[in-house]
Amino acid sequence: MVKVVFKKEGADDRIVDGLEGSSVMETALANDIGEILADCGGALSCATCHVYVTEEWCDRVGQPNVEEEAMLEMAVDPDERSRLSCQIRLSADLDGVEIILPKSQL
Ligand code: FES
Repeated sequence: MVKVVFKKEGADDRIVDGLEGSSVMETALANDIGEILADCGGALSCATCHVYVTEEWCDRVGQPNVEEEAMLEMAVDPDERSRLSCQIRLSADLDGVEIILPKSQL
């Protein structure tokens, strides 16, 4: 299991277990993290799974590829920490990864 810490301004952290090989988006949906909509089911065509990775974790999580970067332009308030959570695969290296949930997906 890989721990994922979902953070949201003004709310307690939600710490959940994800399966290695699954995505942060799948882990969010499996744990009722309602801020992740994931309308396209992980097909990289909606941007409603947008999240921010904390600065401490950005290097380990890595940068978006060209396709993801293009789709991030559709997200609400993207910045240099932005990723689409369906494109982040959990591995042992990411145990404890901190993900900030956006205020809105739409
Ligand atoms: S779920 Fe649609 S782009 Fe991630």
